[in-house]
Amino acid sequence: MRLKKFAKIKKSLKHTLVAKMNTQTSTTKARLRISNLVAGYGHNVVLRGVDLHVNQGEIVTLLGANGSGKSTVLNTISGFLSPTEGTVQLDDTAITGIPPHKSFRAGVVQVSQARDLFGDLTVEENLKLGSIIQGDESLGLKQAFDYFPRLSDRYDQQVSTMSGGEQQMVAVGRALMSQPRILLMDEPSGGLSPLFVKEIGEITVRMKADGVTMLLVEQNLRLALEISDRYLILRDGKVIDGGSTDNLEGSHDDIVRTIYL
Ligand SMILES: Nc1ncnc2c1ncn2[C@@H]1O[C@H](COP(=O)(O)OP(=O)(O)O)[C@@H](O)[C@H]1O
Ligand SMILES: [Mg+2]
Repeated sequence: MRLKKFAKIKKSLKHTLVAKMNTQTSTTKARLRISNLVAGYGHNVVLRGVDLHVNQGEIVTLLGANGSGKSTVLNTISGFLSPTEGTVQLDDTAITGIPPHKSFRAGVVQVSQARDLFGDLTVEENLKLGSIIQGDESLGLKQAFDYFPRLSDRYDQQVSTMSGGEQQMVAVGRALMSQPRILLMDEPSGGLSPLFVKEIGEITVRMKADGVTMLLVEQNLRLALEISDRYLILRDGKVIDGGSTDNLEGSHDDIVRTIYL
């Protein structure tokens, strides 16, 4: 399986990163830190004290059964939902409970499960919406097309006429255009063909190499463990387990059991 390739790229990246870290002072601060987050919908409390952090340059994947609150975590970080307790910190700034447009300005960019594209607009128009807040538009477009060459041939195609996989690329491309401090992606491989799943995996690893920090939600366990540095398991609104994704061969069944049982 080609996914093996990610492990190799990941390993070589890790060596570079470790070398880099060793030449710097060891004051690694979390890019994103969530403490004791409590949130839900009306009387339905979903998150019951979630703690997690993502270091700069890291990919962390949130795993968990359907309905365990993974999307709720992302929506509370990006401000679509206000927590009743706890804090969300982006670098040195508290962003707890600020509305989505403000957290976007602060650098929190989310690719939701629904992708939230404008179907009536073209690929190029959708991409440019990503750079409204910050970034050089033409440079951003060049970069987005560089990541997704397929899109450059179709820059004037109406997005609603594209396949799910192509739309996902527009959504990820648009997110990159705004140069996120942290990119939140909710099941990027969801509903895609194996070919697109592989492509999304490769793109994610490449984004990491370019310095993008990511918190992912992913149902495809194999993909998740191949591309991320750490994983966390959410159950009953709490992070109950997690760790490094290194040397997990043979432990997939245990992880599945922890997720579902
Ligand atoms: N907009 C909403 N209104 C009310 N309840 C919701 C809403 N969105 C999600 N929930 C409930 O919150 C819980 C967690 O959902 P969600 O965060 O979407 O889980 P996951 O992403 O892990 O599948 C579920 O019980 C779900 O029914
Ligand atoms: Mg979800």
